[in-house]
Amino acid sequence: MACEAPPPEVPFKPITDVRETMEWILDPAADVLWASAGTIITIDESRELAPTTDEGWAHVRNNAAVVAEAGNLLMMPSRAKDNADWMEYSSALVDMGVLAMQAADAQDSDALFDAGGKLYSVCTACHQAYIFDTE
Ligand code: HEC
Repeated sequence: MACEAPPPEVPFKPITDVRETMEWILDPAADVLWASAGTIITIDESRELAPTTDEGWAHVRNNAAVVAEAGNLLMMPSRAKDNADWMEYSSALVDMGVLAMQAADAQDSDALFDAGGKLYSVCTACHQAYIFDTE
């Protein structure tokens, strides 16, 4: 019967495993966000890290989009470790990426700093749950 037909398979072609997705896609993009928010204070000066040009903000927005979509990459069948917490963390990654995109679009450095902090806690939470130190 038609209603019992299995859903059509999406012809995903995953290229990177979880580790490569982290190292080559997610981590470099997240680094751009973290390097674009906050203030560096030294003895001689205090320097704002936020972009000062439209191009600079667009670069941040683009990398925030990579972070958001990386959450979807992690949910794909070849990468997802389970259908529960893994999906929650991956979904939170999408949400934090979107938050950072919105901050970049608004050129709001405080909002970007805030999104960066929340993003970091998602990374840490998932790592604590799924990376087991065997030492
Ligand atoms: C949904 C879960 C999840 C989220 C969210 C997540 N990670 Fe990971 N991450 C992992 C897992 C699992 C590994 C271990 C992969 C392996 O070694 O096979 C890992 C490993 C890594 C590594 C180490 C790769 C290596 O060389 O061993 C880096 C760097 C990393 N993650 C960065 C990040 C950053 C930055 C974020 C947040 C922006 C993040 N991750 C969010 C699950 C996650």
